[in-house]
Amino acid sequence: MQLTRTGCALRATSRRWATISNRFHAFNTTRAQSTTSQSATSTGPRSQPEYTRPPGLYLYGLPPGSKQPVSSPKSEGAAAGDTISTIDGKEYARDTQYNVPKQILDHVGRKLYLQPDHPLCLTRELVESAFPSDQGFNNRHEPHPVVTTKENFDDLGFPTDHPGRSKTDTYYVNQDHVLRTHTSAHELKLFSELQRELRNGSHGYTLCSDVFRRDSIDRSHYPVFHQMEGARCWRLVMADQVLSIEERSDKAGIERLLCLQAIREDRDRLPLWRHRHGEPVASHLLQQAALDLKTEDPNPTFDLETNPLQSSHSPVEVELVASHMKHSIEFLIAKVFRQAQNAGIISRSESPRVRWVPAYFPFTSPSWELEVWWQGEWLELLGCGISKQQLLIDAGIPESIGWAWGIGIERLAMLLYGIPDIRLFWSKDQRFLSQFGADQATKFREFSKYPECYKDIAFWLPEPEQDEKAAAAPKNGAETPVEIAVPSGAAASAGGHMSVEESISHPSFHENDLAEIVRDVAGPLVENVVLVDEFFSQKKQRKSLCYRITYRSLERTLTNEEVNDLHQKIRDKIEGQLRVELR
Ligand code: DAH
Repeated sequence: MQLTRTGCALRATSRRWATISNRFHAFNTTRAQSTTSQSATSTGPRSQPEYTRPPGLYLYGLPPGSKQPVSSPKSEGAAAGDTISTIDGKEYARDTQYNVPKQILDHVGRKLYLQPDHPLCLTRELVESAFPSDQGFNNRHEPHPVVTTKENFDDLGFPTDHPGRSKTDTYYVNQDHVLRTHTSAHELKLFSELQRELRNGSHGYTLCSDVFRRDSIDRSHYPVFHQMEGARCWRLVMADQVLSIEERSDKAGIERLLCLQAIREDRDRLPLWRHRHGEPVASHLLQQAALDLKTEDPNPTFDLETNPLQSSHSPVEVELVASHMKHSIEFLIAKVFRQAQNAGIISRSESPRVRWVPAYFPFTSPSWELEVWWQGEWLELLGCGISKQQLLIDAGIPESIGWAWGIGIERLAMLLYGIPDIRLFWSKDQRFLSQFGADQATKFREFSKYPECYKDIAFWLPEPEQDEKAAAAPKNGAETPVEIAVPSGAAASAGGHMSVEESISHPSFHENDLAEIVRDVAGPLVENVVLVDEFFSQKKQRKSLCYRITYRSLERTLTNEEVNDLHQKIRDKIEGQLRVELR
């Protein structure tokens, strides 16, 4: 049936190198199918879909050897004659790489994570409370959003052909600078700054910042969002200080043993570890965290083929560091669950559940994702792993070992407060902002629900060059719909089969370019853009795509004229800027 893969929200990019699971796709499919009986261009109020997919957050799980990035056909955003861009008070020379629309720059400097009582600020504080300064974590933020491509990609070991580097996925300020796409861009610098502190034992940091990705449009994706990064390192003890002259002959071995001992002691002090081993835990922690959290961790800590330990680490070291990291992160999640229970978002009657899934990131090995069981489904929440030793060497702390994680703050806040649409975080409406405050468990109350209205846009992709035709054409049958199989989260991030990418990508069309045009014209008035139809015409030897754009304001009812006008502008721009033929 043609519409089996309808509702494939603009997720090709993320699917290519992220973790999107079948359950989300299944939901989208159902949703789009249920609306196909309506006229393709119908507008007007319809019932609110029960959409709950939280935002993607760690999209960098693409193993080496995966498909090449698709480059953007043209750079937009640079006004003719502009040679300098000023971003957050700093000037950058422009070149042809520039592709930052003004609308994106307008988000710079809002610092929502520092705005008192804002849900993103409260969520940051909750995360920091699990990694506090009195336990050796510097809780930091980094407001300036521009980083070098070296910081964002090279320093972290991203292969040169990683899709994340593509202009379709990343906002380039010029060929050497980007709007950071993840908080990991600051890892090397922050590890370097740990150098001094590490002399006194183990140390770590958390970092919160805004990040920018050219991405799809739906209720859980926005091109500007927030991430937090956390890390901890242990330095091999300076053996000279503690060993006698005779003992120093086996200095290296003894140092490592001492380091192991230090990690073990730190791990054994963690509240969740203590709780699980029958040790007393401070009563305020028992109240603040659902320590009865159940963990599923069926895989060995490392697997030489699929999730290897690094050559410089021993199995015992990796086991201990991973154990420290997992217990620390689970404690954070136990706090999240307790707060959600207090707000009545999830029930207290069941023990909360999480599971660890092997993953891939260029800057950690072994790596994992954490999934939480949330309202009846497994939801990815965070990526993490044992930091690559090269990173620590480059940071000037070669004799250390450490872990790191990264998490999307919007996703966490959407779960914590039951916030249904990511655009709400940018709202200045008091009906939204006044709902949240420190020390109060809050469930978001919908203050208004304005009607949605959708319109479809269909077009032929450019005719592929001769040699691409064979690849683009289906093997048999005319006008054949293409089935899209969605890889499970683990498969995608750990290097599994990526059939979605193959079915949607086209040499001269990228869905993120379409999304950027839609965002540029309609900004926050667009709720969702979904691929609802796709087929290859044998007669025309061309592929046709149809996208459904759902318009809805969070603050008022849109008029038909207004939506028609926006849609026409989008059609014009698509025709003018993408090499497609409208149908
Ligand atoms: N920066 C990653 C992303 O946005 C998330 C991440 C994964 C951060 C693993 C980490 C880490 O520090 O260890 O995709």
